Amino acid sequence: LANGLAATPPMGWNSWNQVGCRGLTEQVVRDAADALVRTGMREAGYRYVVVDDCWQAPTRAADGSLRADPARFPGGIAALAAYVHARGLLFGIYAVPGSRTCAVVNNAYPATGIGSLGHERQDAELFAGWGVDYLKYDWCAADTVDGLDRKAAFTRMRDELARLPRPILYAISEYGVSSPWTWARPVANLWRTTDDLTPDWASVVSVLGRQAEVAAYTGIPGGWNDPDMLQVGNGTLTPDENRAHFGLWALLNAPLFAGAAPDTLNAADLATLRDPEVIALDQDFAYGQGRRWAISGAAQVWGKPTSDGGFAVALLNTGTTPVPIPATVPGTWRVRDLWRHADLGTATDVVSATVAPHSVALLRLSRP
Ligand code: DGJ
Repeated sequence: LANGLAATPPMGWNSWNQVGCRGLTEQVVRDAADALVRTGMREAGYRYVVVDDCWQAPTRAADGSLRADPARFPGGIAALAAYVHARGLLFGIYAVPGSRTCAVVNNAYPATGIGSLGHERQDAELFAGWGVDYLKYDWCAADTVDGLDRKAAFTRMRDELARLPRPILYAISEYGVSSPWTWARPVANLWRTTDDLTPDWASVVSVLGRQAEVAAYTGIPGGWNDPDMLQVGNGTLTPDENRAHFGLWALLNAPLFAGAAPDTLNAADLATLRDPEVIALDQDFAYGQGRRWAISGAAQVWGKPTSDGGFAVALLNTGTTPVPIPATVPGTWRVRDLWRHADLGTATDVVSATVAPHSVALLRLSRP
């Protein structure tokens, strides 16, 4: 979307993978903002603090405006946005095009009429007035319950956002059902390509596999494929698995939204999220996102061009025993190991590594 935003994949924190519906409070969001500053994640590039589903009061006010749940957000959203802004961060919020948010559809949140259907302009203006910088526009049952068409519904909110004096990054989430990579480029700054990522290795491997199918429809500055928010630090994912998850998301030029409390991360996972060379790879776009070059059993090779005329190559082992993984790279290259921050010398025509289980070797190849 040519709204001047998301020239590189946006980065930040989002409440959903950390606290879901039940645990969302204004304090959780403030703590996340403070922790982004304290841990150095803000300086590493994580700028957007996004409040996901379950922030709303169960009904709209008499004049039709949305309001925050007074128990969970006693200070209100405008004050929370100001708190986030005062820390040099940007503020995001969640809405849906239909009549029900996902949590309402899933019977996790008793509320009525808090979707934006019929209130698109009113909600967009309210958000801008609150100081919102980022809108996550979700979907769930807007087709089956409200009879909406995806492209039309997401375009409608795009047009309302375009009227506002305030730039608002626009992220849409319909889980790849209508192949948004084929139509969303003029509509949104990012579009989810798949169903929710869960914090376990099988989900990382499966969501990654689906990205191989869409890579031909690569994101470009202003509009990015979104393989979903990060689960680094959550569930059963180990430090090796988190490096593989994060490294591959970087290769895909994915938006990077942390979904764990930054100051509760172990040292390894915090180092992963903050890694300057891997973040630089995520933010580097030459002429295509990462693609799967080869797959053989548990061994996968992914690669993408980099703007210095080289390539980044990920050697991924999805299995449970170490495997040697070679990648074909015609020519002679200087090789740098991004996770180890080490130059490995030169290689001609092939780079390879023996990769530990559930791990990735992430290499940057440049001209000698
Ligand atoms: C589905 C989305 O994919 C999630 O990221 C999250 O926003 C939930 N809906 C909220 O209910």
